This record gives sequence, structure tokens and C-alpha cells, in this order.
Amino acid sequence: MKRDLVTIEDLSDAALVGLMDLADDLQRDLHAHARELSGFLMGSLFLEPSTRTRLSFEAAMARLGGRVITSSDPQTSSAVKGETLADTVRIVDSYVDLTVLRHPHAGAARWAARHARGPVVNAGDGSHEHPTQTLCDLYALRRERGRLKGLFVALYGDLRYGRTTHSLARALVRTGASFLAVAEDDLELPGFVVHDLLRHPDYGVRHVVLDDLEEVFHRNDVRALLVGPTDQLPAGGDDAHAPVSFPLRGHTIDAIYVTRLQQERGASTARGLPILDHRFLRSDPFQETVVLHPLPRVTEIAPEVDQDPRAAYFRQAALGVPIRMALLMWASGHYDLPLDEHPAAPPRPVDGFRCVATRCIAGQDGEGVPQEIGVREHDVPRCLWCESEARTET
Ligand code: NCD
Repeated sequence: MKRDLVTIEDLSDAALVGLMDLADDLQRDLHAHARELSGFLMGSLFLEPSTRTRLSFEAAMARLGGRVITSSDPQTSSAVKGETLADTVRIVDSYVDLTVLRHPHAGAARWAARHARGPVVNAGDGSHEHPTQTLCDLYALRRERGRLKGLFVALYGDLRYGRTTHSLARALVRTGASFLAVAEDDLELPGFVVHDLLRHPDYGVRHVVLDDLEEVFHRNDVRALLVGPTDQLPAGGDDAHAPVSFPLRGHTIDAIYVTRLQQERGASTARGLPILDHRFLRSDPFQETVVLHPLPRVTEIAPEVDQDPRAAYFRQAALGVPIRMALLMWASGHYDLPLDEHPAAPPRPVDGFRCVATRCIAGQDGEGVPQEIGVREHDVPRCLWCESEARTET
């Protein structure tokens, strides 16, 4: 089977650990692996802006002795002439051994993988997922904190349109960490992610209100989603959606993962959450916090924090190279990882529904992407491309 990476769910728990272990080996001397993938050719097809992801993939391939061809400016690709993604991918795939794709539409990587003979790696598909950023995030967390199991992480910012937190939330519950998703009401984690979290045995989700940190948040009613082992969650009331009070004082947040407002995907600029600055990090729960960010940072972390030893985002970005080297060794077939012994059952296909998400690959004129809707136990029907909730066909 070809080794596509479309969502973080494509990698088993053991594979996540295996990739980080391999990255540790590679990281010891980045210059020592220049023959691993010699003769191998990677195509970077980036139809949306990128600095870190593309360059760290290309650096990773170069460090392994492979070569790269790139199309990184959507304005100079044939997409502007009206070529479909499927056709572009067929062509790139016929030139290279592996394709790394970034695309503005959710589900684009899955669609591309259907048309490629070689592996396709998702480098970000709209506001859906960004699995290789999650590999980098987990790896940075593990290196900064020495472990993942039992960590308490805060996800902070635009959790709705930011794709990195979608993949990260899915992965954190599989590594034994707990997290608090802190966002304004219209920027919270989307339903497809929350539903996924609920599928994990022994894990639960609580709506909470953070009511004791006025000096941090300038108010006492910040709502959050608390996700963790069921026996560690505060008791909920009869109404599963009514938030329960969750005093943060007395808890230690091991890491805060900050994201920028994704204005290009429709996030409103009326942002209510405060900027992370010295004052924020002085408060009790954040004293020991490692600060992570997928970058680019805009205004959500004050530049004064950069000098703080807890600011780990530049160290995190640098780890994008060894972890992507590890991923490329696996995806190219040069390194094996343990497969999932008990993969989740795929969603059951259902008729009579359609995806109405405007930024889904299935809704793009001319792409010819079929409507494919599926349902999992205890969930609503979802689009198999972008995972948003499907509507009944009228
Ligand atoms: C992120 C992305 O593209 O989703 N950037 C990245 O790959 N490091 C985050 C963002 O753009 O905000």
C-alpha cells in the first residue's frame, strides 16, 4: 500500500512514537544521512503561501540526499488556466516519487492521493488538517518536556479555522495528554474534531468556564473545552453542554500552543482573547509553561516573549527538519513503522446528504469531486473530504 499521509489518523500511535525516535537519531547529526534517499525525487506542490513547511520539507529531502522540484507560486501554476487539481497532481506524480501538497481547499490532499501513483503528503488542506505540523509539534513538546503522557496543554487562539490544532487535538488524546481548548465562541474547535475526541476510550470532554484568572484574561467568563481522562475531569451537570466552573489556579499548564487568527479563511478580526505577553506568563498556571506556535506569529505573542527561555517556537520550527526527514524515510518506503493493529472502522457511506461547506474540495466547480458522505456510530453524517457536517439533500 502506498504511504499517503492525509490526516494524522493515518499514523498509528506506535508510528507517531517511531517517527519521533527516528527523528532523534537523525537530529544527532543532520549531515550524516546524505545517502539515505539518493536518487529519490520529491515534488513540492504548494498552491497556498508557505515558508516553514515547504522549506523544511525541501531541506529534509536535501539532507537525505534526495532532490526536489517545486511549484510554489499558485499564480504561475496551471491552476490559474483552469486546470483541475486532479490533473495537476497526475502530472507532478508522473515526474516524481512522492508529492507534498498544500492547497486552500479542505479535502484536497485526499482527492490528490486518489490520483497519484506515488505517496501524497498533506502539507495543509484548507482549514481541515496539517498532520506534519502536528508531528513537529508533538516532537517539540516531547523534547521540551521529556514526555507526552500526562502533559496538560492549552490550545489558544483560532481553533476553528486553524488547521494545525485540528490535527494536534486528535493526536494529543492518543499520546495520553490532556488539553484545554481556549477560544472565543465563534473560533472554537469544529465538530469533526470534538466528535473524534469522544471516540477515545477513557477520554471525556467538558465545557468549562475559566473564572479565576481575571488578571490574565481581563474577564471571568472565558469558555473552554477541557479534554482528558474521564476520571480526571470535573463532575458535569445534567446538561452536558452547560459549562462547569474550572479554576485554573492550582493547575500547571505544561505548554500553551498559540495560533494566529486565520483571516484568509474567514475568521473575524474582532479578537477578544488577550495577547500572550510577560504579564500573561507571570500568572500561576503559566509559570512553567513552554510556549509553542506553528508560526507565522502575527500579533498574538508579544515580541518581548521571544527572549524568555519558555518561548520554544523557534526551537519548534527548527525541529521541522529532522521530523520531516523521518517522515520522508517512511513515506518513501525506506523505513518501516508499526501499523495500527486496530484501525478505526471507516465511516459507513450514506445517501441523501451533501456537503455544503464552501471551502471543501467537493464544492469546487470543475473539479468533478463526487459527493461522498459517511457516518460513524453516534455521529452525524459528514463529508468524507472535509469532514464537515453534511446536509440532507433537498
Ligand atoms: C500554519 C499553517 O499553514 O497552517 N503554518 C505552518 O505551516 N507552520 C499555521 C498558520 O498559517 O497560521
